[in-house]
Amino acid sequence: MSLERIDFLVGVWRGEGHGDYPTIDSFNYSEEVTFGTIPTKDFVTYTQRTKDADGLPLHTESGYIRSPAGGIAELVIAQPTGVAEILTGVIEGTALDLTSTMVGLTPSAKTIRSTARLIEVDGDVLRYRMSMSAMNQPEQFHLEAELHRV
Ligand code: HEM
Repeated sequence: MSLERIDFLVGVWRGEGHGDYPTIDSFNYSEEVTFGTIPTKDFVTYTQRTKDADGLPLHTESGYIRSPAGGIAELVIAQPTGVAEILTGVIEGTALDLTSTMVGLTPSAKTIRSTARLIEVDGDVLRYRMSMSAMNQPEQFHLEAELHRV
């Protein structure tokens, strides 16, 4: 396990995003993400919250990221919508390219089959793109955002 391989994420990030999916209207949102550390621990903590254009809360989620071996990252995320994502993938420089190995759903959750997340850090700018197969649609774009370190 190595914190150094993923510590480029650590910080508080704020910015704007855009979302879409064939089953819904497209939307814009503002977002705050915090990647943190805990003394002596070798993982990164993750919390995220978003607001719509009127400032009302939208999606929120939280989880953990760790790197068990060189070039490898693992991410677990819990969402209040009854969804738990487990993603694994590669670290390339200061980018994480992750795909779900499992999406857990509570009985009342919407149908989500798979997800993928690309997170790229370029100095004080963090960009991500999230796609999913949900609502019986093939995997495709749901979200993208650009955040700045605060
Ligand atoms: C920045 C984070 C996110 C924002 C701002 C966001 C926003 C939205 C909005 C506004 C909708 C349409 C209205 C609604 O159904 O609530 C929606 C639908 C949906 N989102 Fe997201 N979402 C986010 C992350 C996610 C993630 C991580 C997943 C899956 C793991 C997800 C899965 C879905 C699904 C399945 C729908 C329902 C589509 C339907 O009912 O046809 N979203 N999202």
